[in-house]
Amino acid sequence: MENITLPRKTIILAFLISLCLLKTTANKTEAHALLQWKSTLIDGEGCTSSWSHINSTGPCNWSGVHCNHARSVISITLTHCNINGTLLGLDFSALPNVEHLNFHNNNLHGFIPSTISFLAKLVHLDLSANYFTGPVPLTIGNLTELNYLNFGENQLNGTIPTQLGNCIKLSKLSLDDNQFIGPIPPSLSQLANLSRLFLYRNNLTGQIPSSLSQLKNLTVFIASSNQLSGNFPLFLLQNGTRFTYLDLSYNQFSGPIPLDIGNLTELRTLDLSSNSLTGQIPSSLGFLNKLYYLSLNNNSLGGEIPEQLGNMSALEYLIVHNNQLEGSFPTAISTLSNLSFIIASNNNLSGVIDPYLGQNGNLEDIILSNNSFSGELPTHICNGSALEFMSVENNQFSGSTCLRNCSSLILLDLSNNYLRVSLRFLTRNPNLEILSVSENNIFGNIPAEFGNLTALRKLALGSNHLTSKIPGELTRLRLLQFLDLSNNFLSNSIPLDLCRMKYLEVLDISKNQLSGRTPSCLWHMDTIKVLNLDSNKLSENMQSIVGHMPSIRSLHLSNNKLTGDIPSFLKNCSKLTVLDLSNNILYGLVPSWIGTSLPLLRVLCLSSNRLSGKIPPELSELSFLQVIDLSHNIFTGPIPKSFGSFKSMSTRQDGSNFFADGLHDVSVDSERIRIMYSMWYFVYEVIDWKGNEFSFTKTLYLMKGIDISCNNLSGEIPAELMTLKGLVFLNLSGNNFIGKIPENIGNLNLLESLDFSRNTISGYIPISMASLTFLAFLNLSYNDLSGRIPTGSQLEILTAQSFIGNEGLCGAPLSKLCPGDATSTESLSKNADTLDKNGEERIWLFAFVCLGFISGFWLVLGMLFFNKFWNYTLFLSIICCKI
Ligand SMILES: *[C@@H]1O[C@H](CO)[C@@H](O)[C@H](O)[C@H]1NC(C)=O
Ligand SMILES: *[C@@H]1O[C@H](CO)[C@@H](O)[C@H](O)[C@H]1NC(C)=O
Ligand SMILES: *[C@@H]1O[C@H](CO)[C@@H](O)[C@H](O)[C@H]1NC(C)=O
Ligand SMILES: *[C@@H]1O[C@H](CO)[C@@H](O)[C@H](O)[C@H]1NC(C)=O
Ligand SMILES: *[C@@H]1O[C@H](CO)[C@@H](O)[C@H](O)[C@H]1NC(C)=O
Ligand SMILES: *[C@@H]1O[C@H](CO)[C@@H](O)[C@H](O)[C@H]1NC(C)=O
Ligand SMILES: *[C@@H]1O[C@H](CO)[C@@H](O)[C@H](O)[C@H]1NC(C)=O
Ligand SMILES: *[C@@H]1O[C@H](CO)[C@@H](O)[C@H](O)[C@H]1NC(C)=O
Ligand SMILES: *[C@@H]1O[C@H](CO)[C@@H](O)[C@H](O)[C@H]1NC(C)=O
Ligand SMILES: *[C@@H]1O[C@H](CO)[C@@H](O)[C@H](O)[C@H]1NC(C)=O
Repeated sequence: MENITLPRKTIILAFLISLCLLKTTANKTEAHALLQWKSTLIDGEGCTSSWSHINSTGPCNWSGVHCNHARSVISITLTHCNINGTLLGLDFSALPNVEHLNFHNNNLHGFIPSTISFLAKLVHLDLSANYFTGPVPLTIGNLTELNYLNFGENQLNGTIPTQLGNCIKLSKLSLDDNQFIGPIPPSLSQLANLSRLFLYRNNLTGQIPSSLSQLKNLTVFIASSNQLSGNFPLFLLQNGTRFTYLDLSYNQFSGPIPLDIGNLTELRTLDLSSNSLTGQIPSSLGFLNKLYYLSLNNNSLGGEIPEQLGNMSALEYLIVHNNQLEGSFPTAISTLSNLSFIIASNNNLSGVIDPYLGQNGNLEDIILSNNSFSGELPTHICNGSALEFMSVENNQFSGSTCLRNCSSLILLDLSNNYLRVSLRFLTRNPNLEILSVSENNIFGNIPAEFGNLTALRKLALGSNHLTSKIPGELTRLRLLQFLDLSNNFLSNSIPLDLCRMKYLEVLDISKNQLSGRTPSCLWHMDTIKVLNLDSNKLSENMQSIVGHMPSIRSLHLSNNKLTGDIPSFLKNCSKLTVLDLSNNILYGLVPSWIGTSLPLLRVLCLSSNRLSGKIPPELSELSFLQVIDLSHNIFTGPIPKSFGSFKSMSTRQDGSNFFADGLHDVSVDSERIRIMYSMWYFVYEVIDWKGNEFSFTKTLYLMKGIDISCNNLSGEIPAELMTLKGLVFLNLSGNNFIGKIPENIGNLNLLESLDFSRNTISGYIPISMASLTFLAFLNLSYNDLSGRIPTGSQLEILTAQSFIGNEGLCGAPLSKLCPGDATSTESLSKNADTLDKNGEERIWLFAFVCLGFISGFWLVLGMLFFNKFWNYTLFLSIICCKI
C-alpha cells in the first residue's frame, strides 16, 4: 500500500467518514483497491463517478460493481467508458471473489498483469477492444474457472501460451485482432467445452494442430487472416458435424478442398477464400443444406462449378471469384430460392446463363465480370425487383432486353460486351447510380428519357455507335460526377446547359463529331477535373474565352479547329497536370506564364498548331514536366539553354503520384460499400489491385521526353540538354540546327528514341553514342555528319536508314566503306535480324511520337480507385503529341 497516489490524509479522512456512515459493512479492502485504481485512471465519461468514499452506500452500489450476499465484490463492468489507464494499479489480490470482469472497449493500455491470476474464481474475463500490449501472462492458466475469455482487438504479442490449455472450462476463447505469432498450441485440445474459438487477424503460422479434432463441442472456428499453412485440416472433418461456422480465409492453405467437406452438415458459413487451394470445388458441398454463406474466392480452383451446388437449399451467398473455374454456370443454381449474392467474376466461365436465374425473386447482386459468358442476359434476373448490383463487364453477352423491370438497380455495368441494342431498355431504372454500357455495339440515339435517371453519378456510354445529338435532358442529371460519351458518332453542338451538372468531375466527349462553339459555361465548372473534348470539330476563338476552372487537372482539346492565342484564363488553373492543345489552329506566342503559373504540369502538348516566336525559357521551371511536345509549329530562335534544368527529366524516376491529390471515386452509397468491405474484405483486394495498377502507371512515370521537331529553330544543340538523364525520347528533327552533336550524348543512357534528322548538324558522331544501350530508334539522316559511324552494342541493330543523307559518313551499316576498311558488314546485318519483338514494339511506339505518322499517341493512365468488379474506375487518357 506504499504507492498510493492520493494524499494519505485524504484517504484516511475519507475512510473515517465512510466508516461512520456505513450501516452495513461492505468490504473496506475491496473498496480501497477499487478507489486506489480509480485514482490512476482518466475517466472522461465519468463511469466511475459514483465510486467514492463519501458514498454512504459503499462499493456494492457503485455503478458497474456488483456484490454477493456477503457484500463482497463479484462483478466489475466498465464498458464503452473511454477510460484511459492501465491495470497495473489494480490490486487483484484484494478482490478474491470476483467472477466477472468486463472492461470491453476502453483505452486501457500497458501489460496485462500476471497478478490477474489472483482472481481465482474468475468465470468471465473480457478485456477486448483496448490497447493492451505485451504477452498474455502465463499465469492465465491458473484461472481454471474461466468459461469466457476475450482478449480480442488489442495489441498483444508473443505466442499463445500453452497454459491456456489449463483453463479447461473455457467455452469461448477470443484472441482475435492482436499480433500473436507462432503456432496454435496443441494444448487447446484440452478445452473440452470450447464451442467458439476466434483467432483471426494475428500472425499465427504453421498448421492447425490435429489434436483440435478432440474439441467435440467446437462449433464456431475463425482463424482467418493469419499465415496458417498446410493442406486443408482434414481432421476437422472427423466427427465434424458440429461445425456451424468455419472461416479459414486469408491464410496460406494449399492443396484441394477435401471431398469429405460434405461431412460438415451443420455448417451455416464456410469461408475458405484467399488461400492457395487447388483442384475442383467438391460436389459434396451439395450435402450442406444449411449452408447460407459459401466463399471460395481468391484461390486457384479449377474445373466446373458442380451442378450439386443446386442442392444447397439455404444458400444465399455464392462467392467464387478470382479462380480458374471453367465451363458453364450450372442451371441447377437457378432453383436456389434464397440465393441473393452471386460473385463469379474473374474466372474462365463461359456459355449461356440459364434464363431462369433470378426467377425466385431474391437476387440482389450478381457479379460475373471478366469471364466469357455469351448469349442473352438471363430474362428473369429482375424478378421480385430485388436486383441492385449487376456487373457483367468483359464478357460476350449479346442481348439484354430483360432489364426493364429492374427498378431497384443501383449499379449496372455491361461494358465491353457484344450488346447490339438501343439504349431504350434502360430508361426505367430510377435508382441507378452507376451505369456503364461502354464498349458495346449500342446504336441509336441517347434517349431523352435518360434525363429521368436522376440518381446517376456515373454514366459511361463511350465506344459505341451512338448517333444524333447529346440530348439536353441529360443536364437534368444533377448528381452526375462522371460522364463519358467518347468515341461515338454524336454530332451537333454541345448542349448549352451541360454545365448545370454541378458535381461533374470528369467529362469526356472526345472522338465524336461535335461541332460549333463550346458553351461558355463549360469553362466555368468549379468541380471539373478532367475535361476531354479531343477529336471533334469544335471551332472557337480561344482568345475570347473567359474561364474559371480551379479544379482542372487534365485538359484535352486537341484535334479540333480552335483558333486564337492560348487563352490566358488557364493561368489560374494551377492544378493542371496535363495540357493538350495540339492539332488545332492556335497562333501567337507561347506565354511565359505556362512555366510559372502551372507548377504541377507534367505533360504539355502544343504540337501541330501555328504557334510562333521563341520558346520561352521559363518553361524549364516546370519541375514535374515529363513530356513536352512543341513539334510542328513555326517556332524560331534557339533551344533555351535553361531546358537543361528540367528537374523531372534529369532524374530517372519520380516517386510522386501523377495526380497528387487524386480524383474521387464515384461510389455507390457508402453504407453499402462498408457492408461489402466487411463482408468480402474488399479492402485487401483494392490494395492488391492498386498494387498491380501501380506497376502499370509506373511505366508512365518513366515516359519522359522532348519533341520540338518540325519548327524553324536554329543554333546549336545546347550541351546542357545532356544533363537530362531521364529522357526516353528526344526529337529535334526538321529544324535548322547547326554545330555538332554534344560529345556527352552518352549521358542520356535511358534514351530509347533519338531523332536529329533533317538539320544541318555536322562533325563526327560522338563515340559515347554507343553507350545508349536502350536505343531502339535512331535517326541522324539528312545532316552534314561525317566520319566513321561508331559501333557498339545497341548501335549495331540499326540499319542504314538511320544515317542516310550524310555525305561524309562511312562504315557499317552504310555500304560506304571508310578509308582503309575491309568488307565486314556481314555480322552486322545478322544482328539486325535479331532485333527482338520488344524492340520492335518500342520502335513502333516511338514512331507515333516522333515520326508522327498517325494522329494520336495515347498514354493511357488508368486511375483505379476501386475494385475492378465494380468498375468504379476513372480511366483517364492523355492524348498527346501528334501531327
Ligand atoms: C452514490 O452512489 C449512488 C448509486 O450509484 C449514486 O446514485 C450517488 O450519486 C452516489 N453519491 C455520490 C456522492 O457519489
Ligand atoms: C491516455 O493518456 C495518456 C497520458 O495522459 C495519453 O498520452 C494517451 O494519448 C491517452 N490515450 C488515449 C487512447 O486517449
Ligand atoms: C474483505 O476482503 C478480504 C480479502 O481482500 C477478506 O480477507 C475479508 O474477509 C473480507 N471481509 C469481509 C467483511 O467480507
Ligand atoms: C511485444 O510488445 C512490446 C510492447 O509493445 C514490445 O516491447 C515487445 O518487444 C514485443 N514483443 C515481441 C515478441 O514482439
Ligand atoms: C500460476 O501459474 C504459474 C505459471 O503457470 C505457476 O508457476 C504458478 O505456480 C501458478 N500459481 C498458482 C497459485 O497456481
Ligand atoms: C505480421 O505479418 C506481416 C506480414 O508477414 C508483417 O508485415 C508484420 O510485421 C507481422 N506483424 C508482427 C507483429 O509480427
Ligand atoms: C458440450 O456441450 C454440451 C451441450 O452444450 C454439454 O452438455 C457438454 O457438457 C459439453 N462438453 C462436452 C465435453 O461435451
Ligand atoms: C466423413 O464421414 C464419413 C461417414 O461418416 C466417414 O467415413 C469419413 O471418415 C468422414 N471423413 C473424415 C475426413 O473424417
Ligand atoms: C469420432 O467418434 C468416434 C465415435 O464416437 C470415436 O470413437 C472417435 O475417437 C472420434 N474421433 C475423434 C478424432 O475424436
Ligand atoms: C421521362 O422523361 C420523359 C422525357 O424526358 C418524360 O416525358 C416522361 O414523363 C418521364 N417519365 C417519368 C416516369 O418520369
